[in-house]
Amino acid sequence: MRFDLPTSWRHGRGLAAQTGRILRDLGCAHSLLVTDGMLVEKGVVAPVVASLDDCEVEYTMCAEVTTEPTVSLFEKLVDGWDLTGFDSVLAVGGGSVIDVAKGLAVVAQFGGHIRDYAGFDRIPAPLLRKIVAVPTTAGTGSEISDGSVWIDEARQTKFLVLSTRICPTIALTDPEMTCSMPPRITATSGVDALTHAIESYVSVDAGVATELFSLRAIELIGAGLKKAYTRGDDLDAREAVQLGATMAMIAGMNAHMGLCHALAMPLCGLYPIPHGQACAMALPHVLEFNAEVAGAKVAGICEALAMVGTGNDAPGAARYREIEGLLAALGMTGRLRDFGYRDEHMDIIVRETLNSVQYRFNPRAASEEDLVRLVERLV
Ligand SMILES: [Fe+2]
Repeated sequence: MRFDLPTSWRHGRGLAAQTGRILRDLGCAHSLLVTDGMLVEKGVVAPVVASLDDCEVEYTMCAEVTTEPTVSLFEKLVDGWDLTGFDSVLAVGGGSVIDVAKGLAVVAQFGGHIRDYAGFDRIPAPLLRKIVAVPTTAGTGSEISDGSVWIDEARQTKFLVLSTRICPTIALTDPEMTCSMPPRITATSGVDALTHAIESYVSVDAGVATELFSLRAIELIGAGLKKAYTRGDDLDAREAVQLGATMAMIAGMNAHMGLCHALAMPLCGLYPIPHGQACAMALPHVLEFNAEVAGAKVAGICEALAMVGTGNDAPGAARYREIEGLLAALGMTGRLRDFGYRDEHMDIIVRETLNSVQYRFNPRAASEEDLVRLVERLV
């Protein structure tokens, strides 16, 4: 067994106001602050900036991450910014911001293009620059993970840079930083986290340590997500989902994902589907597909989501349908045709799903015919 958790995880309400002190304690004097201009406008970044000023940590703000990370965004940032003058990269934002921060820390040290680092363990040496992540969403788990996800427009798919060397030095989770999330982002990011917890739980690489994190994450997200969706200022619910999301990724980066995430790679490359929405579309169908080989675990997932005694007491496999109810309550009812699905893309979707690094961890192997049937159910 191997269980990595290179990131130091600090959690607490109001903790974002300690960012400056934490950077100073790391010996950092000048940070590249990567964020999203919308978050700056809404005042979400303000407590972090105030703490940098208070602690006399210099920073240069790059607020240009307004979309999911793309190759063209990467090229624009590398052309427009001198990345060599910073001793740290501070990411304040959602998973996209944190993923971009990781990519910039890599090329600041080793040069080249982000495509050069796609795949497993392509970072040649430990990073010298510290990465501190302050997430403003609760979902991707990028604050603790070894992954950075990029959209490659030319290939119409996504690619992953995966290495424990890009795990942030410190993940600083503060539920107050997530309260500005609108309901739709709360739902898509929360379902992404739920999918991390579920896929890592049934993964072929799951073990006693990851199962502990997966199951507790399913419980926390199940307890908080609907409440956080309907009442964004419910700090207890926000905190439960945020703790669950980070724990789900601790499991996910060690046990890896599965078929939902493998499918999401081409689907989000081809169509403007948020990652969590793609996971939500696939989740009940992939659970049904996997239940044939992982029925007891699927039953355990329903139990952790408190989906017991709901009138559907069929053993194992059949209870995956309960999850459809949760997704509907979160407004996650979109289908591929709503995002411009075209039949001629089926070959790309099947090929890229099978090529995805995530696919190999799914507990049940899928044939091309299985995948065509599965995708047809999402249309
Ligand atoms: Fe995900």
